[in-house]
Amino acid sequence: MNAWAALRLQMEWGADEALEDAPVDRLRPREPQPGAATPAARPAEPRPVVVAPAVAAALVIAQPTLRAQDLASAANTLAELRAALIAFDGCALSATATNLVFSDGNPDAGLMLVGEGPGAEEDRAGLPFIGPSGKLLDRMLASIGLDRSTCLITNLIPWRPPGNRNPTDAEVALCLPFLRRHIELVRPQRLVLLGALAARAVLGTRAGITRLRGTWTDASFDGLPQPVPTLPMLHPAYLLRNPSAKRDAWSDMLALRRSIDSQVK
Ligand code: URA
Repeated sequence: MNAWAALRLQMEWGADEALEDAPVDRLRPREPQPGAATPAARPAEPRPVVVAPAVAAALVIAQPTLRAQDLASAANTLAELRAALIAFDGCALSATATNLVFSDGNPDAGLMLVGEGPGAEEDRAGLPFIGPSGKLLDRMLASIGLDRSTCLITNLIPWRPPGNRNPTDAEVALCLPFLRRHIELVRPQRLVLLGALAARAVLGTRAGITRLRGTWTDASFDGLPQPVPTLPMLHPAYLLRNPSAKRDAWSDMLALRRSIDSQVK
């Protein structure tokens, strides 16, 4: 049984509170106190479920994540997934964002791009990649004959983190079930992960993007029969700050084009 399954089981059995530092064996017969009268038999009281403090702390973090998993996996269409995200109040980012940023483009195109999270312009418009890095992304796509009608674009984090700060690990954990379900519902033939955050979250690795980029790798999803060929790439915002890295990005775009062409032929 994995850790999530163990936590889920404890929660289903009612464990939501830490009562003692160590488990208490409430079945052990009590030592009779010297001189005490034998107590009359009383009907058994319901016994509280006891968990250690460390488990209770994990439950506090796990509960919204499990709710995210349940909500995401119950969605059977993209419209339902969008509605599930709107209904989900477990991620504080939704309270500070102006709009949910769900996706843009063509879900039937076979190619899905995943960025990190919305910036100010995306937050205002409710659309991914429309600010400066989005304009660069559009030019990169055009350079290999693609546009938003030939791919679907989304983000790991669907709400703008205040001040464009990096999302925390907890925020990533809360949003990841929705992204994974998004990918399962779209069933892309190819996935492109833009930047370290998306690549690490989807591939479940701590490796750096400069090591991951440019190499196709298979990403598995519970709801998909086959792994999805996945290409991590440098994020356009990184390319704006580091123009010399555009050479690597161009080589990755060509790898993407070659892969699409090899299937078309
Ligand atoms: N950066 C991203 O990763 N996503 C956006 O939507 C915009 C900027």
